[in-house]
Amino acid sequence: MIKDQFLLDPAITYLNFGSFGACPKIVFDAYQKFQLELERQPVQFMMHTGMKYLNDAQGALAAYIGCDANDVVMVMNPSYAINTIAKALPLNKGDEILTTNLEYGAMDRTWRYYCEKAGAKYVAQQITFPIQSKEQFLNDFWDGCTAQTKVVFISHITSATGLILPIEEICREARRRGLLTIIDGAHVPGQLPLDVAALDADVYVGACHKWMMGPKGASFLFVKREQQHWVDPLLISWGFQSEAPSESTFIDYHQTAGTRDFSSFLAVPFCIEFMKKNNWELVRSHCQKKTIEWANRFKVEFGFQSIAPITDSFIGQMYSMPIKLENPDLLKAILYDQYQIEVPVFKNQKDVFIRFSYQAFNTDEDMQYLFDTLKSLKSKGIFEIGG
Ligand SMILES: Cc1ncc(COP(=O)(O)O)c(C=O)c1O
Repeated sequence: MIKDQFLLDPAITYLNFGSFGACPKIVFDAYQKFQLELERQPVQFMMHTGMKYLNDAQGALAAYIGCDANDVVMVMNPSYAINTIAKALPLNKGDEILTTNLEYGAMDRTWRYYCEKAGAKYVAQQITFPIQSKEQFLNDFWDGCTAQTKVVFISHITSATGLILPIEEICREARRRGLLTIIDGAHVPGQLPLDVAALDADVYVGACHKWMMGPKGASFLFVKREQQHWVDPLLISWGFQSEAPSESTFIDYHQTAGTRDFSSFLAVPFCIEFMKKNNWELVRSHCQKKTIEWANRFKVEFGFQSIAPITDSFIGQMYSMPIKLENPDLLKAILYDQYQIEVPVFKNQKDVFIRFSYQAFNTDEDMQYLFDTLKSLKSKGIFEIGG
């Protein structure tokens, strides 16, 4: 059983892989071994061996996401990466950043903070639900583009709504319009095939601690070579005016960040190896099929309007069902405390969603249990159907 290869509590029906991933034992072991090695000889590790491992990890990650190792730097999390970009981006008064109303709240806040400082505008374009097609999405999105738009910021897979967005088309059109593209791919590596170079976004941010199953605190920031010159590091350290410069100023600037435990970065090659060994292409596509199958079953039973077509263009390993209730936290607490089901109940603007994730270790029994539980809670009037 693949679930035995994870550290997850077997008492919990775990249907929220999307929030924080979960580590296979073999990856967590590797992570802890690096931490032990660090503590056995901190100086050797920090100055020499750890640096070599980091270089190797960066190479493995670059090969996995399809870019040159000198264009990607490992960072703590997507928040760190987006903060780096938002702080460094040269914004003028009146400039606009075009985004959607489906972005992750912390990223919205980051952009609003820096836009306010610069007198720029963060334009969260309203996407009409239910989304009928890619074309409709793209029309809604580009309707928000004006002569002041300088940048596109958008999720590749959204958080609360769990939707795959047509990022290839957006990057292509943004290039045609001369706009900078910044893609929040927190949920993508490990859930969708990713070829950063082919996508040709200017900036691509991904988490290794979600669907790649790395330990918490492993993520990446990719910046296209010709854009690297304006990307100041969030933290200035030895990499600036480096006494031993590498061939990439981008790596020098962003990789040195004072004393820290970077063992989570070093575990990333073990995640890649774990996926390879377990035929993750097949696993992932099975999980996507199951997500789609169960999304349809929920839709038939509960009679909601799906927020997007239930197809592999929009749905990966997460599906969000629209519901109506006053207090999302209450339903979340009932599901966890009374039924031991870990599944998030999210608010996105005025809409509320239950989002299930389907990962390798999930089964039809897990889904049936969620299905029966929700059916019973709905019949008791705990929530109504939305959409
Ligand atoms: C779409 C999206 N972007 C960014 C983030 C931020 O990730 P982190 O909290 O690891 O920085 C998340 C977290 O769930 C997310 O879903």
